[in-house]
Parts: sequence; C-alpha cells; structure tokens
Amino acid sequence: MVRDLFGVELPVIQAPMAGAQLGAMAIAVSEAGGLGSLPCAMLNAEGIRKELAALKAATSKPYNVNFFCHAPPSPDEKRESAWREKLGPYYREFGIDPASIPVGPGRAPFDAAAAEVLEEFRPPVVSFHFGLPSRDLLVRVKKLGAKVIASATTVDEALWLEAHGADAIIAQGAEAGGHRSLFLTDDLTTQVGTFALLPQVVRAVKVPVIAAGGIADARGVAAALSLGAIAAQVGTAYLLCSEAMTSTVHRAALKSEAARHTALTNLFTGRPARGIINRVMRELGPLNPSAPAFPLATGAIAPLRAKAEAKGSGDFSPLWSGQNATGCRETGAAALTRHLAGV
Ligand SMILES: Cc1cc2nc3c(=O)[nH]c(=O)nc-3n(C[C@H](O)[C@H](O)[C@H](O)COP(=O)(O)O)c2cc1C
Repeated sequence: MVRDLFGVELPVIQAPMAGAQLGAMAIAVSEAGGLGSLPCAMLNAEGIRKELAALKAATSKPYNVNFFCHAPPSPDEKRESAWREKLGPYYREFGIDPASIPVGPGRAPFDAAAAEVLEEFRPPVVSFHFGLPSRDLLVRVKKLGAKVIASATTVDEALWLEAHGADAIIAQGAEAGGHRSLFLTDDLTTQVGTFALLPQVVRAVKVPVIAAGGIADARGVAAALSLGAIAAQVGTAYLLCSEAMTSTVHRAALKSEAARHTALTNLFTGRPARGIINRVMRELGPLNPSAPAFPLATGAIAPLRAKAEAKGSGDFSPLWSGQNATGCRETGAAALTRHLAGV
C-alpha cells in the first residue's frame, strides 16, 4: 500500500521533471495527498537547498527528491567537433558562432555535495533515474531513513535495483515522456510498454512496484493498480499545470496535433528521451549515433534552442512528452492529482 510505504493518501506520484518544474508543483501535489517530487538534475547544491527549504516550510506532508545518477563521460573533443559540424548549417542559419558555445554538462549526477544537502533536510523519499548512486552515497541516503525508489525499464533492471537496495521500483514503460532510465543496456529493443513491463516486474521482484508511462487519467491509474502497482507515477499530464515551468513553445506543442507524434531522441542530451517530433528530430534523427555522450550533447544545441524559441519556434527544443498527452490539463497540480486519483 502506498500509505504504508510513503505515508501518502493517494496512489499518485507526480513524476520529477527536471527543467519543467520545481518545488511549487511538489508542494501542491503533496498537499493534495499525492507524492510531489522535486527534480534536482539541473540544480546545484545551493539550488537544491533553496527549493527544499521552501518545500519544508510549505508542507509537512511526504515528498520525493529526485536525482540522476549517470557516470559523467570524459569529454571527447573529436566527437564534439564532429557534432558541431553536423549542426553547422543550423548555426549559420541563426548566425551563431560555434566557437562561442561553451561545452557544459547540462545535468549533474547525485554527488557528495547533494548528499550533504539531503542530510540537512532528511527527505522521506529519494528517487533515482539511470540506476543507483555508488554504494557509499546510497548508504548515506538510507541512513537518513529515506525510502529509496528508482526507475527500471526492463525486468533485469528491476532485479538489479532490488538487489542493490531499492525499496520500491518504478516500472517505466516505453510510452513515458522524458529520458528512458535504461542503465544496464543501450539496446532500445528491450524497451517495452507499461502494461507489458509492469506485470513482469511485479512477478519478478518482492518490493512494491510503481507504474510509469502513458498514464494520464483515473482509469489509467486504476488499471495500473489492478496490474499490481501500488501507485502510478505521472509526468506528461502535469506539464500544462499552472505550477509547471513548461515553456510557451512546449505548452503549444502539447496542446496541438503534433503531440500525437513522439519519438525517442538523443539529440538534446545524448541519451534517448521521448519528445514531440520537431524539425531537428526529423532532419538529424530522431536518434543520431554522432551525438555526444549524455549529458554533453546539451551544450551544442542550447543556443539553437534559445534563438528559435525567441522567434516562437520549438524546432530545436526538447519537447518532452509521453505518448499520451491527452491528460494534460490547464489547472492546478492539486486538482489534477485528485482527478488522477479519482477522488
Ligand atoms: C518533461 C519531463 C521531464 C522528466 N524529467 C525527469 C527527471 O528529471 N527525473 C526522472 O526521474 N524522470 C523524469 N522524467 C520521466 C518521468 O519520471 C516518468 O517516467 C514519465 O513522465 C512517465 O510517463 P508520462 O510522461 O507518460 O506520464 C521526465 C518526464 C518528462 C515528461
């Protein structure tokens, strides 16, 4: 039961969505009885501290703090410059000098500085994407009494997470918006839909399982529960909420016919993630083997995104969305949470 594990009333976890929301959404969801999440992949220690202080001041309900835990790649000069050459025609189109673009990681993995912040706040739930952090960091999190949850995209990953200390597994089906959490393989043929993955994971592991991917209404949540999940983790449906920081072009795409066409792409960060198909995905991808390793691809496309967005275009933006954007509602996150829970 979700109440036993997390102390929340409703079987709805608002998916952490780095870049699309911060603590305000987490507060609204937790106050409504679901489990709100604070994504930290794009925050430094000071940013995490600030958000957690505001969160703790605003709610005494349980909440989740989320981190990526990829191994940072060593920058590869040759690959970077080959990729910038591929983007060259676009840089010229927008009058961007490729030499002026800083090489930056874009997203940081969980580290000792972040663990220190968690020690100050002792969050009740901590979730991880792309596996789990190193043993010593995980022990630090567990010592705080936090429930540790992590996303699996295959049965093998679910078994790995259970064996390495996860208290619950998020079964992330291929429909899901944003980054695929796959971490034991790069083979995308292993990625299956939520209702294919969920019962297999439920059968394979002893810990509770949470369903994610394509769940966008109360019937979807109920279906996930009837297949053995204790809760549904919902992302895309929250992207039009008033608390979301979703950009104007992203909101427009989610509300348009374009949202019916999504694909996995590595062009924006270097790792496969599901988003609405746009110009750069059509022309260079959606998957391109030359893109720099995650998260280094972020830097090269950033100025194109900025220039295009300034003109009202999402041609170079990561328009993250799951396959089911029909649950997106322009409402508050609390109302959406109750709607998803059918209360
Ligand atoms: C805009 C966006 C950003 C995301 N960012 C994160 C993140 O920072 N951390 C994470 O664990 N999952 C992230 N995800 C994936 C979600 O945890 C979840 O798997 C997914 O949203 C569920 O599928 P749905 O979008 O169809 O509801 C993101 C998803 C979206 C749509």
